[in-house]
Amino acid sequence: MAHGLQIKDEESGYNKNLFCIPKHYEEDLERVFIPHGLILDRTERLARDIMQDMGNNHIVALCVLKGGYKFFADLLDHIKALNQNGDKSVPITVDFVRIKSYCKDTPTEKISIVGELSTLNGKNVLVVEDIIKTGRTMKALLSKLKDNEPKMVKVVSLLIKRTYRSPGYRPDYIGFEIPDKFVVGYALDYNEYFRDLNHICILKERAKEKYKSNVRLLE
Ligand code: HPA
Ligand code: MG
Repeated sequence: MAHGLQIKDEESGYNKNLFCIPKHYEEDLERVFIPHGLILDRTERLARDIMQDMGNNHIVALCVLKGGYKFFADLLDHIKALNQNGDKSVPITVDFVRIKSYCKDTPTEKISIVGELSTLNGKNVLVVEDIIKTGRTMKALLSKLKDNEPKMVKVVSLLIKRTYRSPGYRPDYIGFEIPDKFVVGYALDYNEYFRDLNHICILKERAKEKYKSNVRLLE
């Protein structure tokens, strides 16, 4: 079973004043939770593990937007480096999907997928996701993917949350296993804000008020 780097429930992260943070977010963040450098170091190792398992065939890397885009770009950079410097190399092609979910985190969760899945027929697909909380959205995506008969599907998620509501879904590769706290940065958002922040950080409660929106569409 896959294990990510475990971040304990009592981990409080780092003083944000010891890191570079965009000025426009300084007052909104409580602490730096996972520094950008650590994300990249862990991603480098995930790239190696993935290539060890999947590196014999053409890989279609499927980015789950929008939250997955930073992790996707950095993971693919590391995979390219392995392709450039190793004894073996495989072509990587890319595809993108966007997921809207309705009745989120309920047993009747439904998703709709924006993006073309029929091109995945017969391919080795690597789904690249930012965060998995209950696993329901991912299970729904995988079931739609399987309708298109890919040869193989593996899932890598940068983060998974330890939650007691989780029905037990675990991806094939995990970057970090984190407590059930709301995090932003490195393309993870709160109502579209904070994607433009390198470190994964914890929001202040009052920032949730400040950036509140009536529209809830995105994971
Ligand atoms: N941050 C951003 N998006 C999310 C989170 C989170 O902690 N959990 C599920 N989607
Ligand atoms: Mg996501």
